[in-house]
Amino acid sequence: MLRTARLVLRPWRDEDLDPFAAMSADPEVTRHLLPLNRTGATAWIERQRAHEREHGFCFWAVEIPGVLPLAGAVGLYTVAPPMPFAPAVEIGWRLAREAWGKGYAEEAARASLDFGFARGIPEVVAFTRPTNTRSWRLMERLGMTRDLADDFEHPRLPPGDPMRPHILYRLSSLRWQTEHSPSAAGANPSAGA
Ligand SMILES: CC(C)(COP(=O)(O)OP(=O)(O)OC[C@H]1O[C@@H](n2cnc3c(N)ncnc32)[C@H](O)[C@@H]1OP(=O)(O)O)[C@@H](O)C(=O)NCCC(=O)NCCS
Repeated sequence: MLRTARLVLRPWRDEDLDPFAAMSADPEVTRHLLPLNRTGATAWIERQRAHEREHGFCFWAVEIPGVLPLAGAVGLYTVAPPMPFAPAVEIGWRLAREAWGKGYAEEAARASLDFGFARGIPEVVAFTRPTNTRSWRLMERLGMTRDLADDFEHPRLPPGDPMRPHILYRLSSLRWQTEHSPSAAGANPSAGA
């Protein structure tokens, strides 16, 4: 379990299914994602539990104590082939609409990056559709950088699918430790988001 100033990132509980299924059915939340029905949401949560058992991390449930028992999911996940940049560890985020615009995703992402880099992950990637401005702006606030040569077509979507084009951002442990972690930002006020 990770704690930040305003959030708790924790393992998934059975009672998270209803709010997670509700946010996963919200067209605004899933505008740039594949929507999940209730069965899909159940399977998604089970995948997080299995991944955490195997790797010690996952896209954790994000709780805002006293405000929202489940605000969404933020965390780390392993990426396997056929993704062109695999093997890798990605950071991802998905919040209920009411939790947008408050800095919660960035706060949870910073805690996830601290967790991953402290455990020796050398690089974390993130990917999204070019039209998902909120998501790639967050990547940039975290100090992640895009190389146009890394742009890719999502291999699990059919050619011609409008959701197929993706952009990739990367962040090395070294860059995080020296420029963007809270301690680095404290040491150098010009660094950080
Ligand atoms: C992507 C997503 C997580 C981004 O959420 P977000 O709330 O925009 O991101 P942040 O946590 O970084 O918050 C930034 C906003 O909070 C504001 N904010 C308010 N209080 C803040 C605080 N204390 N600290 C930081 N930012 C704060 C910022 O000014 C910024 O506002 P803006 O959107 O008007 O520019 C969210 O849009 C989402 O869940 N989308 C749907 C799912 C999805 O597409 N996921 C990505 C798949 S690749």
